[in-house]
Amino acid sequence: MKIAVLPGDGVGTEVISQAIKVLHAVSSKYDIDFEFNEGKMGGSAIDEFGDPFPEETIKICKESDAILLGAVGGPKWDNVSPEMRPEKGLLKLRKTMGAFANLRPAVLFKELSSASNLKNKILKDGIDIMIVRELTGGAYFGKKGTLEIENGEKAYDVTEYSTFEIERIAKVAFEIAGERYSRVTLVDKSNVLQTSKLWRKTVTNISKEYKNIDLNYMYVDNAAMQLIRNPGQFDVILTENMFGDILSDEASMITGSLGMLPSASIGSGNIGIYEPVHGSAPDIAGKDRVNPIAAIMSAALMLKYNFKMSEAAKDIENAVLKVIEKGYRTLDIMEEGKSPVGTDKMGDLILTEI
Ligand code: IPM
Ligand code: MN
Repeated sequence: MKIAVLPGDGVGTEVISQAIKVLHAVSSKYDIDFEFNEGKMGGSAIDEFGDPFPEETIKICKESDAILLGAVGGPKWDNVSPEMRPEKGLLKLRKTMGAFANLRPAVLFKELSSASNLKNKILKDGIDIMIVRELTGGAYFGKKGTLEIENGEKAYDVTEYSTFEIERIAKVAFEIAGERYSRVTLVDKSNVLQTSKLWRKTVTNISKEYKNIDLNYMYVDNAAMQLIRNPGQFDVILTENMFGDILSDEASMITGSLGMLPSASIGSGNIGIYEPVHGSAPDIAGKDRVNPIAAIMSAALMLKYNFKMSEAAKDIENAVLKVIEKGYRTLDIMEEGKSPVGTDKMGDLILTEI
């Protein structure tokens, strides 16, 4: 199984090396071979090739079975032209691989409930949300521009969605809900936006093919509030690109730390992209401080969705849980009475459990 490894920038390198360590443990336990091929991505690719997603990396990705990504971006590249920003490389990667469905599970580990920013009484029923974010459309990919006008400038980012783009992601959401608690909440702003109206109409149509799934609708402003007020009400949240970007960061805070959340991006091809939801965190990069769990759990999602190795994926999840239960914590989830560990040590502890 060929895995393209794109550590990217900042803490990306550190978390990805922990994920690979864990995959080596899985490889010997289950007697399967992983071939890792590393490529440059984001700022480090700009430095070396003058392009955030260079041909060399595209080739490595296309020749792989799955892609494991760290994070991109950092202050060093903040002033490059918009077309050359590290983030642009990430968007191009997703588009090139046809990865239109971004799955972002937000699960609360019981042991970490005091790391959550919410009161315990709100968390008592547990939290197990799956955000299904559309990833290759909307404002992030629409026509953009800036023009001079009489008294300043004017800028635009066009948000467009076609029926086809909505249908295919809706199906992903309904299928996933079928394996979970059979509830989908479509989050939109259909009281204001045309695109949202089309989302509602299209998703409602598709829902007729999924009679066992309960579909409900929520405006995005209300959803932002409900996530804090009563997060236990959600199962699958289906939403467009920008709303999903925002709500998934919000959901991460409910579960304690952005350092815990993995993601899987799947779509028209067979090659999925697996990456932590957190960014490159330049402020703590290179200090052995970052939490590698989101990256390690992303590797677990890769085993599950890409390689159909559910048992091995469960193994990783259980190993993470055990290490947490034993009281080990990286700084982002540290509490009194627990044992603080660095990035590398956390990786070692998890692989020992495997
Ligand atoms: C994310 C990130 C990216 C996004 C950025 C870096 C382009 O915020 O994966 O959520 O907006 O998709
Ligand atoms: Mn984001």
